[in-house]
Formats: sequence, C-alpha cells, structure tokens
Amino acid sequence: MPLIRSLRLIALSIPLSAACTGGDDVGPSQETDDDTSTTTATDGTAGTGMDSDTDPTADDSTSADTTGEPGDGYPDEVLDHLELPWPAHEYDEELPPHFQVEAVTNLDNTPPGNAITDAGATLGRVLFYDRALSSNETIACASCHVQTDGFTDVDTFSEGFEGGLTGRNSMNLGNSRYYATGHFFWDERADTLEDQVLMPIQDPIEMGLTLEQLVERVQGQPYYPFLFEQAFGDATIDEERISLALAQFVRSILSYRAPWDEGIVATDFDPMVNFPNYSAEENLGKGLFFGPGGNCAICHMEQQGPPPIPGEPLQNAAIFQLVEAVNNGLDAALDNDDNGVGDATGNAMLNGVFKSPSLRNVELSGPYMHDGRFDTLREVIDHYDSGVQPHPNLDPRLTAPGPGGGMP
Ligand code: HEC
Ligand code: HEC
Repeated sequence: MPLIRSLRLIALSIPLSAACTGGDDVGPSQETDDDTSTTTATDGTAGTGMDSDTDPTADDSTSADTTGEPGDGYPDEVLDHLELPWPAHEYDEELPPHFQVEAVTNLDNTPPGNAITDAGATLGRVLFYDRALSSNETIACASCHVQTDGFTDVDTFSEGFEGGLTGRNSMNLGNSRYYATGHFFWDERADTLEDQVLMPIQDPIEMGLTLEQLVERVQGQPYYPFLFEQAFGDATIDEERISLALAQFVRSILSYRAPWDEGIVATDFDPMVNFPNYSAEENLGKGLFFGPGGNCAICHMEQQGPPPIPGEPLQNAAIFQLVEAVNNGLDAALDNDDNGVGDATGNAMLNGVFKSPSLRNVELSGPYMHDGRFDTLREVIDHYDSGVQPHPNLDPRLTAPGPGGGMP
C-alpha cells in the first residue's frame, strides 16, 4: 500500500525537530527518534531534551555545579533547589521568516498583557515541572505533557495525583500559541490559555488543589519569591501571576526547525515541489498530504482567505493546525459518550466536534484523537482512508466527491 505508507512518512517527517525553546540543555535524547532517523533535525535540536535531565526541579539537582559560574545571578534560595541557566534562556527568540507573515502572526493568541519574557517563561517552566502544584505533590504539568513525547503522554489516558484517569487523551502542547480563537482543550471549554492553565491544577483527578491552596503552595517554596520578582518586578505571588507565567511558558513551546521548515523554504513555499531534504517516499507522502489523495492540509494547515491555488506559494507554511474545531467522522451516532464541543456548550449541533492539536511532532504524540483510540499513525491513515463515519456533523471537506474526498 504505497499510498498509506507514504502518508505515514510525511506525517513522520513534519515534526521531527521539536525546537522547544524551553530546554536549556539540549543534549541529544534520541531514544524516541529511532523511527525517523532519516529525517533528523538539521540543527541538532531533535528531541531537545527537557526530559528529567533538564527538569529544573529535579530532586537530584545540585547547586554545586552552578553556583561558581561567572555571571551566575540566582540567589542560594533558587540554586539550592533548581538548575536554571543564567542569564535566563532566550524564550522569545526570533522565528524563521515563514512564521513572521501575517497569515501566521494573525493566528497568535498571545493577549496584549502577557507577551513572553525570558523571566516570565522561566518562572512558568519551573511551575510546569513542580510537583508541589498537586495535592499530594506527586504530579506536575510535565507528568502528562512529557517533552520527549511531544509534550503529551504515551498512555491513552493520564494518571492524576491519586491514580485516577483523565477522561481524554493528553494534548500535544507544541505551537498551541497559534490558535487564533484562543480556545483550549479538545472541547474548547477554556476561553483563553490564561484560563486553561489553572484548570488542571483544580481538577479533582489531575492535580486536586483549590486556587487558595495553590497560592499557599507556591508561596511555601523558597525559590519562588526571587523568580516572581524577576518576572513581575516584585515578589508578590498570586493566582493571576501563576497563570500568566504558565501561559507564557506554554506559548514558548514551539517547533520551527523541523525538516519541513528547511524544505518549504528551499522550494519557495510551494508544498507540491519535491523537497531536496526529503526522501522520495516522504515527498510522495507530502504530495498526498497537500494534494489529491490525502487532502489533509485542507484542514491541518488551513489557509486564510480563498483556497490556495496549486503551484502558488502557501501563505501559512508554518502552522499544522485547524483554525477551529470540527468533526472528522470518528463515530456515526449524533450522541456518544463524549460529544466534545457539543457537551461543553449544550448545543447538539456541535456534537462530535473537537479541536485538533498541531500535527508537529505527531510521531511522538500518540495515541491519537481525543480519546486516544488510535495507537499508531497507520490506524489514523486507515481511518481517513476507509473509516470516516457519516456523523450528522461531519465536516464537508471529508465528504467531498472525487479525488481527495475522504469518504470511501
Ligand atoms: C493528569 C494529567 C494532566 C496534568 C497533570 C496536566 N494536563 Fe494538560 N491536559 C491533559 C489532558 C488529558 C488534556 C485534554 C483534556 C480535555 O480536553 O478535556 C490536557 C490539555 C491541556 C491543554 C490544552 C491544549 C490545547 O491545544 O487545547 C493545555 C494547554 C494543557 N493541558 C496544559 C497543562 C498545564 C499548564 C498543566 C499544569 C498546570 C497541565 N496541563 C496538567 C492532561 C494533563
Ligand atoms: C475535515 C478536516 C480534517 C481533515 C480533512 C483531516 N483531519 Fe485529521 N483531524 C481533524 C480533527 C477535527 C481531528 C481531531 C478529532 C478528534 O480527536 O475528535 C483530527 C485529528 C488528527 C490526528 C490526531 C491528532 C492528535 O494529536 O491526536 C491526526 C494524526 C490527523 N488528524 C491526521 C490527518 C491526516 C493524515 C489527514 C489526511 C489523510 C487528516 N488528518 C485529514 C480534522 C481533519
């Protein structure tokens, strides 16, 4: 089945260089990349390791290695507990030109009052890895959003602080900044990322704290006053600042140095031209993803304005994400156990409608779909190839007749 195999390969080739700007020590952590060794990152940042080695709150962190460094500006209250780069990692680094066009910057959900700063995102990173943010101090955000797994969880459902399971599959956080409506979760129930980041902390299964307890917990750690002062100008710790910093860190999780990014620049943003850095099969898969046969890009790399003319450069050549939640035909019945946006809004017209995370790093971010029903990309391709169900709210792009229509 060459068609299917090629589609899988393109999917594999898109994400490989998660250029997470969150890790300070980008030592190679290739265990997860063996499947994709032919398309490793061009800049040595593949699988940048904000794994346990770079967890700033790791128990075994020692201050001895870092205190003596010249220019080291963190006080002992921080250095005794955390390993942080000084000066702070540059989080809002300049992105390549194809991220700086209007079709992409228009998608950015950063609100006016919360632009990424290095100190703010550093604080957010420490909060993200801090198990003190869960009731019994066992679970951090990073427990269910693992960098080496595409900032998601390899399990279908994730374990919360008391071993209870989440109702849905954990979501890939990469490039989640580029979702213009700013709505978060599979069912879009969070209106903004600033709202979203406080919700897992209060979730009775995930982290189990009240906001009051959260603020007390954070105030109770010796390393936070300095980090809050750096980020916000004074050492006041409150829920709003916790939310702002966490949101800054999540927005700084970006993939922009994948083989895709090199290839699309090399072909002047024409996705239908073969990429010099792709194998023949990857190029075939790319043709299917963008053209007749697969037509995946019509949703997963949406363009603004009129549909792009074949052979013309893409306006959005950066963001592999839908601009809104839709139904992709996983189930036939109008009413299922989980109706996504329909349940969140109480509007049955939106039953079966779900947000999709970015497809960057997709080979790391399985299992797939809101309920993690597909373990492999092969199963995902089989779904689009022959498994699309006639749900009443099925997106018309999956019913279109002729080549490219997803329905069998
Ligand atoms: C116990 C596991 C678990 C923990 C802990 C957890 N998450 Fe999640 N996260 C999930 C799951 C599962 C979803 C999808 C839930 C849904 O849609 O109902 C999710 C979704 C998200 C999303 C939505 C992404 C999108 O594109 O819409 C963001 C952002 C996020 N989490 C950030 C965080 C942050 C920040 C923390 C810590 C404060 C955190 N998560 C803690 C499991 C977890
Ligand atoms: C009509 C728009 C649409 C088209 C066309 C489409 N998808 Fe999707 N895709 C979605 C939606 C919506 C979801 C999330 C559905 C859910 O979980 O309920 C999704 C989810 C996915 C996921 C899982 C993402 C994750 O993190 O779990 C993958 C992988 C995927 N699609 C790949 C493809 C491929 C490959 C194609 C082309 C063969 C394709 N899609 C065509 C809308 C679309």
